[in-house]
Amino acid sequence: MKNALAQADHAVEALRAERRDDYYPQFHLAPSAGWINDPNGLICINGVYHAFYQHHPYDENWGPMHWGHATSRDLAHWQHQPIALAPGEDDDKGGCFSGCAVDDGGVLTLIYTGHVWLGKAGDDDQVREVQCLATSEDGVHFVKHGPVLTPPDGIQHFRDPKVWREDGEWWMVVGARENGLGQARLYRSADLRDWRFDRLLGGAQAPHQGYMWECPDFFPLGEQHLLLFSPQGLTAQGYRNRNRFQSGYLLGHWRPGHDFTPTQPFCELDAGHDFYAPQTFTAADGRRLLFAWMDMWESPMPSKAHRWAGALTLPRELTLGADGAVRMNPARELTALRREHRTLIPLKLRNQRRPLAEALQELQLTLDLAGSDAERYGVAIGGAARLYVDNQAHRLVLERFSEDPGLCGCRSVALPAGERLSLRLFIDRSSLEVFVNQGEACLTSRIYPADGRRDLSLFAEGGQAQFGDMEGWQL
Ligand code: FRU
Repeated sequence: MKNALAQADHAVEALRAERRDDYYPQFHLAPSAGWINDPNGLICINGVYHAFYQHHPYDENWGPMHWGHATSRDLAHWQHQPIALAPGEDDDKGGCFSGCAVDDGGVLTLIYTGHVWLGKAGDDDQVREVQCLATSEDGVHFVKHGPVLTPPDGIQHFRDPKVWREDGEWWMVVGARENGLGQARLYRSADLRDWRFDRLLGGAQAPHQGYMWECPDFFPLGEQHLLLFSPQGLTAQGYRNRNRFQSGYLLGHWRPGHDFTPTQPFCELDAGHDFYAPQTFTAADGRRLLFAWMDMWESPMPSKAHRWAGALTLPRELTLGADGAVRMNPARELTALRREHRTLIPLKLRNQRRPLAEALQELQLTLDLAGSDAERYGVAIGGAARLYVDNQAHRLVLERFSEDPGLCGCRSVALPAGERLSLRLFIDRSSLEVFVNQGEACLTSRIYPADGRRDLSLFAEGGQAQFGDMEGWQL
């Protein structure tokens, strides 16, 4: 593997020399060059945060998957590390697909999917997927130990293991596809090497619930358990399931050795255009944190012309609200990114647009819903996007503009109850993340401002709008 890794590192460096930075994030994790998708192996071990990710170092397009690697001491600033895994063994020669990391008595251990194309590369109907193990003594260089879990007869799609320790045992949830229906399969082991099937944690009953459940994750939140997964094949319904694939959760109850009993239907975790394959990990102090891939399969990605594609979201903290709903907020560590601060005074606009700032990367504002009668009012970011209240549909809308019709369109959430709406925006060179009312809803979308224009303005159309307290930061 050493040779393959050295070659891959070399390839990224060569691509890096050609990278253009117009869209390259200032404060999000992205490949130094080439392609990335899912976050993998998120863990805090020996005082260091590790984020691995699906990576193609030879090209800005998806290809034979490697594991890229970055580390951080504070979750806000990241350093790229040498590529951790390269495909090439009999069991992973088609790619080292997604997986997780665990702390096995101080040893950083990766469990990932070895993918093999049995027919032509890219032919999804003939694949073999097994779960493989790799370990590291120094947290940077990894030794592969081969497969530890093979799929049951009749299952080809069997990937994205997430492992945790509970009740003196290791547990693994794996995504699978059986007879055209998605599943989350639960396994248990004493030593991370020998696994036995425990039960199905969940599964689609019909094709409209997904033909494949990718990237499952399973963990306690408050008094409940959350089964997080990324189903493929859901049909769009009204405002829901608008992206190519979805990511969301079932909330319910579980104890080791028992069935998982969801108490409510599948719920999408983020309502934006670009949010997929989220995975969680625990911070040193026990908080449940999450990263997702901030893109969507098959979406146009203008940064490919600049020799890179793909970024991770900001790290977010998950909590369960008193009302039993999941809340997602930016990790509090991100305040370390704040530099220049701006306080902006409340203002009223009637059929007007008012420049607010040249560029701010973090903006907090409140909209006075009760005191506004405009048809639409909110914030515009250059010519690339606007976020506004649609007073007729009674929704908060993120509208994205582009010369590419494939990037145009709206995503939205119902306006929460209450007279005021609080919004927290993070605006990087090619992304917008919106946290609504302390995490009651989130919208994450890639945006591609022309000429780097990210100036902010406020607007009110068809009436009057009242903007309350506003604060901004350069990050
Ligand atoms: C999700 C996914 C995973 C797979 C990986 C391959 O985006 O399709 O199921 O392991 O990406 O890159």
